[in-house]
Amino acid sequence: MKTQVPIDPKELDELLKETHFDDLGNASIREVVRLSQNIEKKTGLPFIHMEMGVPGLDVNRIAAEAEAEAFARGYASKYAPIAGIEPLKEEMSKFVKNFINIEIPPEYCFVTVGSAQGSIALFLMANRLFRDRAGILFIDPGFPVQKLQVKVLGYDYETFDVFNYRGDRLKDKLEEIVKEKNISSILYSNPNNPTWISFTEEELKIIGEVANEHNLMIIEDLAYFGMDFRKDYSHPGEPPYQPTVAKYTDNWTMLISASKAFSYAGQRIGMLIVSDKLYHKKFPDLSRYYSSDQFGHALVYNALYSLSAGVAHTPQYGLTALLKAVNEGRYNFREDVKVYGKRAEELKKIFLENGFHIVYDNDLGEELANGFYFTIAYEGMTGGELLKNLLLYGISTIALQTTGSERHEGLRACVSQIQEEQIPVIEERLRIFHKNFGK
Ligand SMILES: Cc1ncc(COP(=O)(O)O)c(C=O)c1O
Repeated sequence: MKTQVPIDPKELDELLKETHFDDLGNASIREVVRLSQNIEKKTGLPFIHMEMGVPGLDVNRIAAEAEAEAFARGYASKYAPIAGIEPLKEEMSKFVKNFINIEIPPEYCFVTVGSAQGSIALFLMANRLFRDRAGILFIDPGFPVQKLQVKVLGYDYETFDVFNYRGDRLKDKLEEIVKEKNISSILYSNPNNPTWISFTEEELKIIGEVANEHNLMIIEDLAYFGMDFRKDYSHPGEPPYQPTVAKYTDNWTMLISASKAFSYAGQRIGMLIVSDKLYHKKFPDLSRYYSSDQFGHALVYNALYSLSAGVAHTPQYGLTALLKAVNEGRYNFREDVKVYGKRAEELKKIFLENGFHIVYDNDLGEELANGFYFTIAYEGMTGGELLKNLLLYGISTIALQTTGSERHEGLRACVSQIQEEQIPVIEERLRIFHKNFGK
């Protein structure tokens, strides 16, 4: 028998009893994945998975072939250099020049086991630079796993919802927190996961100036590189370039994930780029934990080394080949991933037609870009309630409250796994949802 929506709430309640959530709004991405898979198994209803940012595309064959070749050459038995293989470091340096217009020699470009490893390595640095500075400031909403990392490490953090502090209002808000809270560093993603707003040059300049004035380290998370599809940042050496704080401060670090722009999530590979000035800077308090008080040395030979002692050779060769093709203009990654923008536009329309509204609904007064994520709410329900009710209709998402958002009524919806043929299914399920819940 074909299962219909909504599924029997009793079945969901039974499964929920096995979890430890009082409020589903607090469930992490992976916890919602597990729960929705369990419901699928129990009810036989195929789910629409909008909870996890898994790329819905294959990695380009240039990468797959280069990996296979490296494997055949016997690299599986060899340890890789911690900082990354030389050809990859060279391509990373060219990539940063070609698409961000920042000159940075290969020696300051490092490979990581996904950006997730890059951020944990930087957290191990940031909170140890100064004896009297303990916390990271997250310009939120953000990627929940980074806060999990900070908590697992036992550090403090501060956060604020940037939607209320856009443009020149950002300066006072940053100053207020930085002065009060002994902050060591600031992290944000651009474009922002989950709201899909993008910081303007003015805002990046403010962040850079605050970093200069208070000697703070910046972690610029470019996980969705080039995916503000209102602009085309995909032509090597040609403007417009991906905006960056690196134009305004020397205290920058950058995380460029290969997971989303290059659909390389499964091989766990990312780029960590560090300003040359910051690399060579000495922080006497670092020697409490590391063999050197020099930022770059401690980062590579202590923090990164202790986390995984390097990144597997084969994805390094795969990414090298891919970046080379991108740098030489033979492969335009934007052409592949811009389908996410189209999908978001279609899906937003369907949600809006069925009584939902967009939570973060503009980008500093301008129309929001369409991309990997968007945010939704439904009148009269908290994020946790809406998440649970959508599960009854076979749609899984995560609550915004796990992202540092102040908008606890909302959810994050990710478009990446949605296939064209699922669109009518979503339309039908939301229509029934709205019929049952609408006033
Ligand atoms: C903002 C942000 N930063 C970092 C990451 C981690 O990416 P990676 O797969 O490279 O570890 C993600 C993944 O979803 C993300 O959304």
